[in-house]
Amino acid sequence: MRIAILGSGRGSNAEAVLEAQAAGNLGAARVVSLFCDMPQARILSLGGRFGIPAFQPESGPFKTKFPPEVEAAWARAIRESGADFLVLAGFMRVIKAPLLEAFPGRVINLHPSLLPAFPGLHAIAQAWNHGVRISGCTVHHVNAEIDGGAIIDQTPVRRDDDDTLETFEAKIHAAEHALLPEVIRRLSGKIPA
Ligand code: GAR
Repeated sequence: MRIAILGSGRGSNAEAVLEAQAAGNLGAARVVSLFCDMPQARILSLGGRFGIPAFQPESGPFKTKFPPEVEAAWARAIRESGADFLVLAGFMRVIKAPLLEAFPGRVINLHPSLLPAFPGLHAIAQAWNHGVRISGCTVHHVNAEIDGGAIIDQTPVRRDDDDTLETFEAKIHAAEHALLPEVIRRLSGKIPA
């Protein structure tokens, strides 16, 4: 399983996966490239630190989607990087046919809530504002429906009485940093090469 990680910003989850890889804890999976749609995003700096090529291809005029021909160019660039599996880790664009058909059944996403609750943007704030006592994070397969693919695994996170939005967020991010590398490690034993 040769992975391209796609992200848009801080890249703390990409970093957790790369740290797991460096520690030998990613099973048969290997991250071969990083792709980012935002210039100067921190995730791009992880490439140099971990010795992985990092790319920021042209992404088109929109913020949350690709024009189809641009998405097709991303699919070609990702293939050329040697990847055969996509991990969306904080990637803020909707993925459609060009990428889904180029990597059929081989795209997973990390989301900061217990799906199907709170899909879409600002999931942690959505859950906080709703007053839920338990939220968490989810890794799921990606299909054409936003945050709607089959769930692979989830970690619950409790909202304690003394939590603030910031501490609640920090707990969910810590849960993500453990869950995503673990799911990749497990999948690497199941996904055919
Ligand atoms: C993570 O919390 C991830 O679950 C979320 O963005 C954050 C990225 O953090 N993704 C989504 O909301 C996707 N809808 P990171 O850049 O530090 O990994």
